[in-house]
Amino acid sequence: MLLGHLRDERRLRGTKEGCAEGDCGACMVVIAELTSDETSVVYRAVNSCILPLPAITNRLVLTVEDLDDGENGLHPVQKALVECHGSQCGFCTPGFVMSLYALYLNHDVYPGRPSVNEALSGNLCRCTGYLPIFEAAERMYAYPRCARDPEVDAARLRDMQQKTAVQKPQAAYDAAAQPKTIAEVCKILSKDNDARIVAGATDLGLEATKDLKSWSRTIHLDDVRELQQITQTAQGLSIGASCVLSEVFPLMAKTYPELSDYFYRFASLSIRNRATLGGNIANGSPIGDSMPVLLALDADLEIARTAGRRVMALSDFYLGYRKLALKPAELLTRILVPPRPEDLFLRAYKISKRREDDISAVAMVIALTLKDGIVESARVAFGGLAEMPRRAKGAETILEGHAFGRETVNEAVASIEREFSPISDHRASASYRLRVAGNLLRRALAEFEGNPITQTTQLNCEVAL
Ligand SMILES: Cc1cc2nc3c(=O)[nH]c(=O)nc-3n(C[C@H](O)[C@H](O)[C@H](O)COP(=O)(O)OP(=O)(O)OC[C@H]3O[C@@H](n4cnc5c(N)ncnc54)[C@H](O)[C@@H]3O)c2cc1C
Ligand code: FES
Ligand code: FES
Repeated sequence: MLLGHLRDERRLRGTKEGCAEGDCGACMVVIAELTSDETSVVYRAVNSCILPLPAITNRLVLTVEDLDDGENGLHPVQKALVECHGSQCGFCTPGFVMSLYALYLNHDVYPGRPSVNEALSGNLCRCTGYLPIFEAAERMYAYPRCARDPEVDAARLRDMQQKTAVQKPQAAYDAAAQPKTIAEVCKILSKDNDARIVAGATDLGLEATKDLKSWSRTIHLDDVRELQQITQTAQGLSIGASCVLSEVFPLMAKTYPELSDYFYRFASLSIRNRATLGGNIANGSPIGDSMPVLLALDADLEIARTAGRRVMALSDFYLGYRKLALKPAELLTRILVPPRPEDLFLRAYKISKRREDDISAVAMVIALTLKDGIVESARVAFGGLAEMPRRAKGAETILEGHAFGRETVNEAVASIEREFSPISDHRASASYRLRVAGNLLRRALAEFEGNPITQTTQLNCEVAL
């Protein structure tokens, strides 16, 4: 992983190791890379503890040491943290500095508290408390600006690309292959069935750092530009499997603003900066958060192999616990989301113990299309209720053809209780999961009827329980 390389080989010890699983942010660095059309540069804070080294090919890695230019002393981010008393033991501080530095590079002026919250959603501090750090995030904009020149970085990145193309023509069969096209990926897969596809590595990285797994061959998708493109047409959205969630979610939220809060609840910004939509789907976790959304929106998947491509419904993709309808040597290439239907009622809820950077106990997404008050089509999709992300087909049938009201919802809740037998684990008990699933459907009804559940109502419910 990049963290080990920085600390042990480059002796750059400003970047710390806290958890080695993408949770604490002590290892945060900023990666500068060209956009998929290669016209400009994008700066992203990422967790170096789960970032495989091949992923930095043709990228600039900025660590906390880069902020010391030897002339001006402290960078505004660091100066602000000092002046606002934003550090005590200091262990988390370089990570906070780098997350704030990414924010600083991406915004010329103070972008406001919501953006700061998002920028720091992957950083934990055990001793300072967050208020001084939030103050510093505002204060850093009060000093003379000291940012990088994106034009210069873009030129440097293009130059790097040309040089590596000459030095390392095509190492397709390396132990860590870095192909450039879908065809090349399929070719490697067809020759070596055991080769492991690596996208953002926010799942696979943990298998390496926590389960100490290793693979005889890995195929890194970072340089396959075809997989990083998003197009929006009259047919809907076509999202490349390797598009990172920090790009995909804001774009989808333009068409589906109802999903904004749900998207914000997916991991942290630094994880979303690496995690890909294809990786979330292909990882096949029953508590993966994008699948309930995509199931409710009737998304399809495009899958490639050497012989060609095929398209299948996401709802047919999961066959059991982490069992996918992906055949050997196949690669997930695109996610196809149909256009937004008229008269759509859409809600998405994630139940987890923390607001930021936590895994779902239960997630539910409901999408209803209505005509004259009657539900024409219903999609209710859950995470955390079964061995795979799944639609509640019985409940959907009950809702279709009726007004969305209390009586039908009660019947649908009863159907969910018959359809699903969730497990109990450290996140939630089976009975909690089932109860919450039914309550989320009732919550959707309350919002449909214009009675949104506010935080106060929630607190009152908790007190009553
Ligand atoms: C701190 C932390 C918080 C997290 N929070 C959440 C959360 O809130 N919600 C959530 O759902 N997940 C969460 N995750 C899990 C993870 O971030 C997501 O599942 C992510 O989308 C995985 O994408 P990736 O690109 O990193 O996949 P990778 O780790 O690279 O790959 C995952 C799997 O998919 C396969 N794969 C990847 N791309 C393809 C492809 N194109 N074709 C075929 N197979 C492919 C890989 O071989 C591997 O088996 C979290 C992870 C961490 C570390
Ligand atoms: S060491 Fe904790 S996120 Fe990397
Ligand atoms: S200053 Fe000690 S953990 Fe943040």
